[in-house]
Amino acid sequence: MERSLVLIKPDAMQRRLAGTIISRVEGQGLKPVALKMLHMGKALAEKHYAVHAGKPFFKDLIDYITSTPIVAIVFEGEGAVEVVRKMMGATDPAKAEPGTIRRAFGLDIQRNAVHGSDSIESAEREVKLFFAKNEIFDY
Ligand code: RTP
Ligand code: MG
Repeated sequence: MERSLVLIKPDAMQRRLAGTIISRVEGQGLKPVALKMLHMGKALAEKHYAVHAGKPFFKDLIDYITSTPIVAIVFEGEGAVEVVRKMMGATDPAKAEPGTIRRAFGLDIQRNAVHGSDSIESAEREVKLFFAKNEIFDY
């Protein structure tokens, strides 16, 4: 079954929005099969966002995503990647469609509340960065 890695980002954690965001995704029928709270270190952050290494916003992005603990969740379900991406909305909350998580809760292009894998391949890579096999449940 298809999976997506979702991160509740620091700006959402600071505003106590983790439960609200998780609830929205569950409400679309996706099933949480792994979940943890962690404070990402620089090494994990640089691996997770490796595709952006060298871009002008990379250092700020790493500083931001490592600034507070976050919640990481693996959501499973049919079309999980696209379902989550659609729910999130555009990277810049100002450009995100009404009804999306980023439009509702994002603050700016960096502090945009949530991460979701952008493809099935990214999801497989990202899930492995955050979770060991025995932390992912089948139920
Ligand atoms: P994400 O990877 O976090 O799900 O977000 P995304 O696919 O919508 O956006 P992406 O292009 O992958 O960018 C990753 C994260 O980097 C920060 N960002 N800052 N200052 C900027 O111009 C800028 N651009 C991107 C955001 O936190 C974005 O979600
Ligand atoms: Mg991305």
